[in-house]
Amino acid sequence: MTIITVFNQKGGVGKTTTALNLAAALVRTGRVAYGFDLDPQAHLSSITGVTAQTGQDTLLGLFQHNRPLREMVQETASQIKIIPAHTELSKVDALFGKGFNVVNRLNIALQTESFGKKDTPVVIDCNPIIGVLSLNAIFACQGLIVPISADHLSTKGALQIEKALDALEKVLKRRIPRRYLLTRFDGRRRMAWDVLQLVEEHFGDEVCKTKISENVSLAESPALNMTIFEHAPSSRGAHDYDELLQELLSDGFIE
Ligand SMILES: Nc1ncnc2c1ncn2[C@@H]1O[C@H](COP(=O)(O)OP(=O)(O)OP(=O)(O)O)[C@@H](O)[C@H]1O
Ligand SMILES: [Mg+2]
Repeated sequence: MTIITVFNQKGGVGKTTTALNLAAALVRTGRVAYGFDLDPQAHLSSITGVTAQTGQDTLLGLFQHNRPLREMVQETASQIKIIPAHTELSKVDALFGKGFNVVNRLNIALQTESFGKKDTPVVIDCNPIIGVLSLNAIFACQGLIVPISADHLSTKGALQIEKALDALEKVLKRRIPRRYLLTRFDGRRRMAWDVLQLVEEHFGDEVCKTKISENVSLAESPALNMTIFEHAPSSRGAHDYDELLQELLSDGFIE
C-alpha cells in the first residue's frame, strides 16, 4: 500500500509533522515520494518551500478544471515532490457537494495517473475537518495513519474518527487499513502512559509500536523549512520517524 493519508479531526496533533517526515523517510530509502497538501493552511507546502500561485496550482485545479495531478507537482529541496495547497483550496468544501463522485475524485485521478505504485508512494496531509477534502484523502488512500498526541482530547478525536470511518466504510464497502500513532510522547509524564494504555485497549494491534517522542528538533524544523532528516539527522525525532517507516514496511502497511 503506498497511498497513505494522515488524518485526525483534532488540530495540532502532528499530522503535518508525520506526513512530512514519513515522506522524507521514504525518500531516504531511494523512493520517489510525493506529498499532497490537502490543507488550505498550506503548512506542508510552506515547510517544503513551495508556493501555489493560485488555487489552480492545487487540487482545486483537479476539481474545477480536471487538471492532471502531474502538472501540479513541484520539486523541493527535501526531494519530496509536492502538490501544494493555497487558501483558495478551501473553496472545494463550499463549491462541491459531498456526493460520491465528488469525494471519489482524487481516488480516480490517482488511479488514472498510476500514482501509489511501489516506486511512487504518496503521503497526503489533511486539514482537521471531515469535509470534502479530507473525505477525498480517505477515499483515495490504501492506508490511514491517525496521529494521537499523547493527551486525552486527542484520544477523543481518534474515537470520533473510528465512528466516522464505520459510516464511510459502508459506502466504500471495504475496511480502510489504519494505524494509530502516538505523537509528542513524553515518557516522563504519567498522562502519556495512561493515554497509551487507553489507546491500546481500544485499538489493539492497530496502534503503532513506534511512538514519536516529544522532541525539540521536530518542533524547530518547520521554521527552518526542513524535514527532521535535513535539520537534525541524529535526533530522537529522526530516529523515531525512521523506525516508524521500518515498522510500516515490515508489517506490509506500506509496500
Ligand atoms: N513530536 C513532536 N515533538 C515536538 N513538537 C512537535 C512534535 N510533533 C509536532 N510538533 C509541533 O506541534 C505543532 C503541531 O504539529 P503539526 O503542525 O504537525 O500538527 P497538525 O495536526 O498538522 O496541526 P493542524 O491540525 O493545524 O494541521 C507544530 O508546531 C509542530 O512543530
Ligand atoms: Mg497540519
